[in-house]
Amino acid sequence: MAEDINPPPRLLMGPGPINADPRVLRAMSAQLLGQFDPQFRAYMRETTQLYRGVFETANRWTLVVDGTARAAIEAALASLIEPGDRVLVPVFGRFGHLKVEIAKRCGADVRAIEAQWGTVFSTEALEVALRKEKPRVVAVSHGDTSTTMAQPLAELGELCRQHDALLYVDATATLGGMELPVDTWQLDVVSAGLQKCLGGPSGSAPLTLNERAEKRIVRRRHIEAGLKRADEKDGEGPIIRSNYFDLAMIMDYWSDKALNHHTEATTMLYAARECARILLAEGLPHAFKRHRDASRALCAGLQAMGLRLFGDQAHKMPNVTGVHIPAGVDGEKVRRTLLEDFNIEIGTSFGPLHGKIWRIGTMGYNARKDAVLTTLAGLEAGLAAEQHKLPRGAAVDAALAAYRSA
Ligand SMILES: Cc1ncc(COP(=O)(O)O)c(C=O)c1O
Repeated sequence: MAEDINPPPRLLMGPGPINADPRVLRAMSAQLLGQFDPQFRAYMRETTQLYRGVFETANRWTLVVDGTARAAIEAALASLIEPGDRVLVPVFGRFGHLKVEIAKRCGADVRAIEAQWGTVFSTEALEVALRKEKPRVVAVSHGDTSTTMAQPLAELGELCRQHDALLYVDATATLGGMELPVDTWQLDVVSAGLQKCLGGPSGSAPLTLNERAEKRIVRRRHIEAGLKRADEKDGEGPIIRSNYFDLAMIMDYWSDKALNHHTEATTMLYAARECARILLAEGLPHAFKRHRDASRALCAGLQAMGLRLFGDQAHKMPNVTGVHIPAGVDGEKVRRTLLEDFNIEIGTSFGPLHGKIWRIGTMGYNARKDAVLTTLAGLEAGLAAEQHKLPRGAAVDAALAAYRSA
């Protein structure tokens, strides 16, 4: 017989998932409700309202897609992109490549531009690409956890409007951890996941879209035959090629029409609602500062140990830090020491960075002083066990000093 689930008490300091806030886990233990129960519909409406606060938007269509963060990426792209549409994807890490891949599956004529991993695009470079490619849709990551970089977006929304393109932003890694005022920055569709700065488990993907995007999506609305009333007409646009990720149907389901689509993942909705509630109770400016403080302290500690930070520090996300594995050190052995002796998980890396950097997350519930200090102490012990010379005790002292001056 399998035993009861009793996982080791890990501290998850990788690029996500991170430990869920205990209040989120508590909300998830609440009993289920039917998806059309008036109380459940009230929870859905509250979830919309709470995420308007998190996304800093007045968008009517603010909801959660059931599935991990890529479910919302796929819903956004499948619903925006009509076959043959030109789509511009600025790639500065693994998750840019993911958007290229999804856009291709949607039948797009994809034009990717690439920046070296560890850097981001200048606004000028994006403008040149917009002018040259004339895309209908631009799909970009805000923060890419694979490289730890955050693409500045404050001007891209306006530029996309000038060039008549819709802008989709993947904010999986940044929502709740750094500024992303959706309306001020004129972002048309933005989505995220819970398992990073929102402090929840993966499995629910908040998404918001504005009227520009709504117009594109609603003209592709095709109501399932078993649900359609005689007086309802399909939109004149081409059908969205995914049923599960059809945002027109998901919007009908979330609207007061409550038109049946999937069976809402009740427990995940409780989680998403609680993540947003906790974040707004803390206040966005406070949460952003907490992430910046944790990042600064972690970086100060890593550098005091003599380690080198990865990438363009002016554009590093405040919630994930890349650090070079010192020459001669087996990065996997150090990660194993951290896991086995300290119960701490830090991240390895992908693609061109594989074996070269560790990625350490300080996000959501784990963007805390004690989590940063314990991780630095564990990393120091792991490096020392590999005979790497370093000033003992300096990392924790430097991190504490950074916290005191914050
Ligand atoms: C920027 C970004 N986009 C998308 C994803 C994919 O998220 P998920 O694994 O929840 O589908 C991740 C996960 O790390 C991410 O960092």
